[in-house]
Amino acid sequence: MTATAARPAETLAAKQATTRHFLMCPPTYFTVEYVINPWMNPDEPVDAALAMAQWEELKNTYVRLGHTVDTIEPQPGLPDMVFAANSGTVIEGRVLGSKFRAPERAAEAEHFRRWFVTRGHRDLVMPTRINEAEGDFAWTGEVLLAGTGFRTDPAAHAEAQEALGVPVVSLNLVDERYYHLDTALFVLDKGPHAQIAYYPGAFSEGSRRVLARMFPDAVIADEADASCLGLNGVSDGHHVVLPFEATGLAAQLEERGYEVFGLDMSELRKSGGGPKCCTMELHA
Ligand code: ARG
Repeated sequence: MTATAARPAETLAAKQATTRHFLMCPPTYFTVEYVINPWMNPDEPVDAALAMAQWEELKNTYVRLGHTVDTIEPQPGLPDMVFAANSGTVIEGRVLGSKFRAPERAAEAEHFRRWFVTRGHRDLVMPTRINEAEGDFAWTGEVLLAGTGFRTDPAAHAEAQEALGVPVVSLNLVDERYYHLDTALFVLDKGPHAQIAYYPGAFSEGSRRVLARMFPDAVIADEADASCLGLNGVSDGHHVVLPFEATGLAAQLEERGYEVFGLDMSELRKSGGGPKCCTMELHA
């Protein structure tokens, strides 16, 4: 208890979990057979059974934490469809679909669009610009943080603002290993006192200043945390799911009162993915 006084004031308030609604896609057809980011190497074998077990563990973790997890039917020939986060941005019932940069992934967008339509989501817009959805968009409950530099077209940010009716803040990614915003930043708490964790090295100088201004008390991750895709985390406001290797980040989060669940994501990381990439959140 004596250590409490030295912690940031934020720690003193208990962390509150809120129940989330997620959409995931089993890695039934997951492989690494093309290269669209520096993590991917078709010569390095992927253990398909292990990838499935790791994905199941991620899904089971969400269920144990009380979250709702829907799944979409995986499709042969779309090995990256497991990365559901890239296929839609959903905020308060409005859905903005996706448009992939890589032709190899283009067909995923239509499968997800149909899933939304079948589920009765009527307020649905498909983007005209390259838009990799939650890969590059992070909703804080107040603003949509939007990455660009490698995948999502900066013009998609304005399109998202118009379609979703929420303010968008553009951020420039500058390190190709962190090709999507969700490889370098995630939201810990949503709402008027939103909190984030991020790796500054992934962002341009100007974007680092924007983040420091908006989130002066953010959790700052280092290179070791970032390079295991530790920033590809999922938080419900109290429980944080991370790759287990992100030990420095986990320690910082525990210090602030979060409860960390470290998972083994080794096989999905061979494609450049982690927990968040596998998880689209349907934000209420
Ligand atoms: N191989 C996939 C790609 O490069 C990985 C996507 C990971 N998803 C994410 N949200 N970062 O498109």
